Amino acid sequence: MADSQRHPFLHGLSKHRGAPPTVVVIFGASGDLTARKLIPAVYNLGVDNLLPTDFHLVGYGRKPIPDDEFRVLAAGAIKEFSRRELDDDVWGHISGNTTYVAGGYDDESAFARLAEHITAIEKQVGRDVQVLFYISTPPSVFAPILRNLGAAGLAAKHLGKAYHAKVIIEKPFGHDLESARDLNGTISSVFQEHQVYRIDHYLGKETVQDLLVQRFSNAIFEPLWNRNFIDSVQITVAEEVGVGTRGGYYEQSGCLRDMIQNHTMQLLALTAMEPPVSLDAESIRDEKVKLLKAIQPLNLEYGGDVARAQYSAGMLGGEAVKGYLEEEGIEPESGTETYAALRLSINNWRWQGVPFYLRSGKRMSHRVSEIAINFKHPPGTLFAESERFNLAGNTLAFQIQPDEGLSLILNAKVPGLETRTQPVKMNFRYATTFGSNTPEAYERLVLDAMIGDGTLFIRGDEAETSWKLCTPLLESWAAAGREEMGSYDAGSWGPKNSDALLAKNNHLWRQP
Ligand code: BG6
Repeated sequence: MADSQRHPFLHGLSKHRGAPPTVVVIFGASGDLTARKLIPAVYNLGVDNLLPTDFHLVGYGRKPIPDDEFRVLAAGAIKEFSRRELDDDVWGHISGNTTYVAGGYDDESAFARLAEHITAIEKQVGRDVQVLFYISTPPSVFAPILRNLGAAGLAAKHLGKAYHAKVIIEKPFGHDLESARDLNGTISSVFQEHQVYRIDHYLGKETVQDLLVQRFSNAIFEPLWNRNFIDSVQITVAEEVGVGTRGGYYEQSGCLRDMIQNHTMQLLALTAMEPPVSLDAESIRDEKVKLLKAIQPLNLEYGGDVARAQYSAGMLGGEAVKGYLEEEGIEPESGTETYAALRLSINNWRWQGVPFYLRSGKRMSHRVSEIAINFKHPPGTLFAESERFNLAGNTLAFQIQPDEGLSLILNAKVPGLETRTQPVKMNFRYATTFGSNTPEAYERLVLDAMIGDGTLFIRGDEAETSWKLCTPLLESWAAAGREEMGSYDAGSWGPKNSDALLAKNNHLWRQP
């Protein structure tokens, strides 16, 4: 079976998913993401014996760093951030093929040097290799890098042959609809769509992939998965962390761009899309795009479908933490939201009338990402809510992280001579059933890009459709400045204005 046909949801990570000889070139090699995620991901693929025999890693960045020093930095990153300890044998193999090229991102001659460097690696390997460019830089240099890859002939390298060049592009994919379109335009002037892998690391998370397995491999869900049985859906991506040292970035971004437009919209698309005709990348992306297109434009009025807020000082984990406006690099009158909530209506046969609530925030009570499907209440003819009958609507909750799993809330009889009821929770936990050594999202994504499986990446039209929904809101918030900006204490479950979004439909936010 061709690599592109072999599907991760069916096969999982196995040693049969061999990648061809590969050079991974990381742009932004001395950056934070490279140290925290990319180098550890490559290393862990090595531990699992999933790297090709001929594997080379090339760091590229502005700062001149000798090869040896880059290897030392990479080993340090593994020690600090890898989920598994540094094994000298495994790292020895990878580091022997690890080099560094210094150069500017808009410097054509540096890209010519990079091209020579890659050709020299191919000579050493003795055959063609696929080159996987990983653009992990600030977005301001995405376009020059892409253009220079084109100019140096690197984008078209081995195109038409088995091992052609590919590019992974980190988020943020644009900052609004227009910039996303521009970026797609630049990409398509240099690469063909099948060479392009737009990252949303949430798609690499085990539990996000499990969502599709749960939905489409269990016959009990599909008949219930619609407006006849489902009352509402809540998607929460809550973080304990504040903006930390990323104030400069965050001021330009805010929660809507940073989390909602990408991660939570992806979770929504996978939860609500129609069953794809097959599990290949295009079929799944087609369904996601169809779903995103069915979302109705938001009512941007105050008290409409949206709420935003900033955290104020509070207590988290027993410690006092600062408010957003006191954080480093934040404007004293900042109009940037650290929390956003949306109420979405999906106008199709399956979902019409079912509200989908999305929320994300920094400095919330605790770190949790979940998708909660709330079912309708039964007719209250036999067990009407009373002192004896403590009843809850059934909720199926996919806990994306941490403590990954799935739970179902049902009503049960409390043992005893009198009939009393109480909600109970049935729990499946990954760690208990499968053990806790789950691969990190980036391991899956780097491997998938190497073997040519785009299922867990975003297609260009998908990114644009999501921006189309969010851009009018971004514009309206930018115009409003701090007007109608809510506030919530750090360590709480978010602002009052977001409770009001749900109150209209007599709903309450869950506290997962
Ligand atoms: C990133 C955001 O995309 O996702 C960060 O830029 C956020 O602000 C992070 O903290 C959350 O990712 P995870 O995997 O820790 O939930």
